[in-house]
Amino acid sequence: MLMPPALTVAEYFAGIGLMRLGLEEAGWTTVFANDLDAKKRERYEHHFGCSPAVTPDDIHLLDVKHVPSTILATASFPCNDLSLAGARRGLSGEHSSAFWGFIRILEEMGARRPPLILLENVTGLLTSNDGADSREALPAVNRLGYNVDAFIMDATRFRLFSLS
Ligand SMILES: C[S@@+](CC[C@H](N)C(=O)[O-])C[C@H]1O[C@@H](n2cnc3c(N)ncnc32)[C@H](O)[C@@H]1O
Repeated sequence: MLMPPALTVAEYFAGIGLMRLGLEEAGWTTVFANDLDAKKRERYEHHFGCSPAVTPDDIHLLDVKHVPSTILATASFPCNDLSLAGARRGLSGEHSSAFWGFIRILEEMGARRPPLILLENVTGLLTSNDGADSREALPAVNRLGYNVDAFIMDATRFRLFSLS
Protein backbone atom coordinates (compact mmCIF):
# COMPACT_ATOMS: atom_id res chain seq x y z
CA MET A 1 0.00 0.00 0.00
CA LEU A 2 1.24 3.55 -0.77
CA MET A 3 1.47 5.75 2.33
CA PRO A 4 -0.63 8.95 2.16
CA PRO A 5 -0.09 11.99 4.46
CA ALA A 6 -0.28 11.30 8.20
CA LEU A 7 -3.57 11.38 10.11
CA THR A 8 -5.80 12.01 7.11
CA VAL A 9 -9.26 10.50 7.00
CA ALA A 10 -11.95 9.87 4.40
CA GLU A 11 -15.35 9.86 6.09
CA TYR A 12 -18.03 7.77 4.33
CA PHE A 13 -21.69 8.01 5.44
CA ALA A 14 -20.58 11.26 7.09
CA GLY A 15 -24.09 12.31 8.19
CA ILE A 16 -23.83 15.38 10.41
CA GLY A 17 -20.17 14.66 11.21
CA LEU A 18 -20.10 12.98 14.61
CA MET A 19 -17.23 10.76 13.51
CA ARG A 20 -15.30 13.85 12.43
CA LEU A 21 -15.94 15.56 15.78
CA GLY A 22 -14.28 12.74 17.66
CA LEU A 23 -11.43 12.24 15.21
CA GLU A 24 -10.56 15.95 15.08
CA GLU A 25 -10.15 15.96 18.85
CA ALA A 26 -7.65 13.16 18.40
CA GLY A 27 -5.67 15.12 15.80
CA TRP A 28 -7.08 13.68 12.55
CA THR A 29 -7.91 15.83 9.51
CA THR A 30 -10.88 14.96 7.33
CA VAL A 31 -9.92 15.45 3.67
CA PHE A 32 -12.92 13.73 2.10
CA ALA A 33 -16.53 13.25 3.19
CA ASN A 34 -19.51 11.66 1.43
CA ASP A 35 -23.22 11.40 2.17
CA LEU A 36 -26.23 11.30 -0.13
CA ASP A 37 -28.64 13.11 2.24
CA ALA A 38 -28.84 16.83 1.39
CA LYS A 39 -30.11 17.92 4.83
CA LYS A 40 -27.26 16.13 6.60
CA ARG A 41 -24.69 17.58 4.21
CA GLU A 42 -26.10 21.02 4.99
CA ARG A 43 -25.74 20.42 8.76
CA TYR A 44 -22.23 19.03 8.30
CA GLU A 45 -21.10 22.01 6.26
CA HIS A 46 -22.81 24.44 8.63
CA HIS A 47 -20.76 23.03 11.47
CA PHE A 48 -17.41 22.41 9.79
CA GLY A 49 -17.47 24.86 6.89
CA CYS A 50 -17.21 23.68 3.32
CA SER A 51 -13.78 22.12 3.49
CA PRO A 52 -14.01 19.50 2.36
CA ALA A 53 -17.43 19.88 0.71
CA VAL A 54 -19.40 16.70 1.38
CA THR A 55 -19.76 14.85 -1.93
CA PRO A 56 -23.40 13.91 -2.59
CA ASP A 57 -22.96 10.59 -4.39
CA ASP A 58 -24.71 7.35 -3.62
CA ILE A 59 -21.85 5.13 -2.37
CA HIS A 60 -22.77 2.56 -5.04
CA LEU A 61 -22.09 5.14 -7.76
CA LEU A 62 -19.21 7.08 -6.23
CA ASP A 63 -16.29 7.23 -8.67
CA VAL A 64 -13.11 6.11 -6.92
CA LYS A 65 -11.13 8.64 -8.98
CA HIS A 66 -12.65 11.35 -6.77
CA VAL A 67 -11.50 9.71 -3.55
CA PRO A 68 -8.14 10.94 -2.21
CA SER A 69 -5.56 8.67 -0.59
CA THR A 70 -5.80 8.77 3.21
CA ILE A 71 -4.45 6.86 6.19
CA LEU A 72 -7.93 6.06 7.51
CA ALA A 73 -11.40 5.54 6.02
CA THR A 74 -14.43 5.48 8.30
CA ALA A 75 -17.82 4.00 7.43
CA SER A 76 -20.86 4.60 9.64
CA PHE A 77 -23.05 2.75 7.16
CA PRO A 78 -26.85 2.67 7.59
CA CYS A 79 -28.18 0.45 10.39
CA ASN A 80 -31.84 0.38 9.24
CA ASP A 81 -31.68 -3.28 8.16
CA LEU A 82 -29.50 -4.42 11.08
CA SER A 83 -31.05 -2.73 14.10
CA LEU A 84 -33.06 -4.85 16.53
CA ALA A 85 -35.76 -2.18 16.07
CA GLY A 86 -36.11 -2.84 12.32
CA ALA A 87 -37.19 -5.64 9.97
CA ARG A 88 -33.65 -7.07 10.00
CA ARG A 89 -33.18 -7.64 6.29
CA GLY A 90 -29.47 -7.53 6.99
CA LEU A 91 -26.60 -6.60 4.71
CA SER A 92 -28.66 -7.35 1.61
CA GLY A 93 -31.33 -4.87 2.75
CA GLU A 94 -32.01 -1.70 0.79
CA HIS A 95 -30.11 0.54 3.23
CA SER A 96 -27.44 -1.53 5.00
CA SER A 97 -26.23 -3.03 1.71
CA ALA A 98 -24.41 0.30 1.40
CA PHE A 99 -21.69 -1.61 3.29
CA TRP A 100 -20.93 -3.40 -0.01
CA GLY A 101 -20.60 -0.04 -1.74
CA PHE A 102 -17.86 0.83 0.73
CA ILE A 103 -16.14 -2.51 0.06
CA ARG A 104 -16.29 -1.80 -3.69
CA ILE A 105 -14.57 1.57 -3.18
CA LEU A 106 -11.75 -0.09 -1.21
CA GLU A 107 -11.39 -2.78 -3.88
CA GLU A 108 -11.21 -0.25 -6.69
CA MET A 109 -8.65 1.88 -4.83
CA GLY A 110 -6.15 -0.97 -5.19
CA ALA A 111 -2.74 0.06 -3.84
CA ARG A 112 -4.18 3.47 -2.82
CA ARG A 113 -6.47 1.80 -0.29
CA PRO A 114 -6.10 3.27 3.23
CA PRO A 115 -4.00 1.18 5.63
CA LEU A 116 -6.66 1.64 8.34
CA ILE A 117 -10.44 1.40 8.19
CA LEU A 118 -13.04 1.87 10.92
CA LEU A 119 -16.56 0.47 10.50
CA GLU A 120 -19.21 1.63 12.94
CA ASN A 121 -22.68 0.16 13.37
CA VAL A 122 -25.20 -1.31 15.81
CA THR A 123 -24.62 -4.64 17.57
CA GLY A 124 -27.29 -6.14 15.29
CA LEU A 125 -24.58 -6.38 12.62
CA LEU A 126 -23.08 -9.27 14.58
CA THR A 127 -26.35 -11.22 14.86
CA SER A 128 -28.40 -10.41 11.74
CA ASN A 129 -29.45 -13.46 9.71
CA ASP A 130 -28.22 -15.58 12.63
CA GLY A 131 -24.69 -14.24 12.23
CA ALA A 132 -24.46 -15.05 8.50
CA ASP A 133 -24.06 -11.37 7.62
CA SER A 134 -21.02 -10.83 9.82
CA ARG A 135 -19.58 -14.17 8.65
CA GLU A 136 -19.76 -12.78 5.12
CA ALA A 137 -18.77 -9.18 5.88
CA LEU A 138 -15.66 -9.71 8.00
CA PRO A 139 -13.94 -12.07 5.50
CA ALA A 140 -14.75 -9.55 2.73
CA VAL A 141 -12.70 -7.04 4.71
CA ASN A 142 -9.95 -9.65 5.27
CA ARG A 143 -9.75 -10.33 1.52
CA LEU A 144 -8.80 -6.68 1.02
CA GLY A 145 -5.75 -7.29 3.20
CA TYR A 146 -7.06 -5.94 6.52
CA ASN A 147 -6.90 -7.66 9.89
CA VAL A 148 -10.33 -7.13 11.37
CA ASP A 149 -12.02 -7.55 14.72
CA ALA A 150 -15.42 -6.56 16.07
CA PHE A 151 -15.96 -5.04 19.49
CA ILE A 152 -18.88 -3.43 21.28
CA MET A 153 -18.56 0.00 22.88
CA ASP A 154 -21.00 1.33 25.46
CA ALA A 155 -21.85 4.90 24.40
CA THR A 156 -22.85 5.82 27.96
CA ARG A 157 -19.17 5.68 28.92
CA PHE A 158 -18.36 8.67 26.72
CA ARG A 159 -19.04 12.34 27.39
CA LEU A 160 -21.77 14.20 25.55
CA PHE A 161 -21.16 17.13 23.23
CA SER A 162 -23.45 19.17 21.06
CA LEU A 163 -23.35 20.51 17.52
CA SER A 164 -24.36 24.14 17.09
C1 LIG B 1 -25.89 5.86 10.48
S1 LIG B 1 -25.91 7.31 9.52
C2 LIG B 1 -24.31 8.02 9.81
C3 LIG B 1 -24.28 8.89 10.98
C4 LIG B 1 -23.04 9.73 11.04
N1 LIG B 1 -21.98 9.04 11.74
C5 LIG B 1 -23.36 11.07 11.70
O1 LIG B 1 -22.51 11.58 12.44
O2 LIG B 1 -24.43 11.61 11.44
C6 LIG B 1 -25.76 6.70 7.88
C7 LIG B 1 -25.57 7.78 6.84
O3 LIG B 1 -25.41 7.15 5.58
C8 LIG B 1 -26.03 7.95 4.58
N2 LIG B 1 -26.32 7.03 3.48
C9 LIG B 1 -27.27 6.07 3.45
N3 LIG B 1 -27.21 5.38 2.30
C10 LIG B 1 -26.20 5.93 1.57
C11 LIG B 1 -25.67 5.63 0.28
N4 LIG B 1 -26.17 4.66 -0.46
N5 LIG B 1 -24.63 6.41 -0.15
C12 LIG B 1 -24.12 7.40 0.62
N6 LIG B 1 -24.60 7.72 1.85
C13 LIG B 1 -25.62 6.97 2.32
C14 LIG B 1 -27.25 8.52 5.27
O4 LIG B 1 -27.69 9.72 4.65
C15 LIG B 1 -26.76 8.73 6.69
O5 LIG B 1 -26.32 10.04 6.91
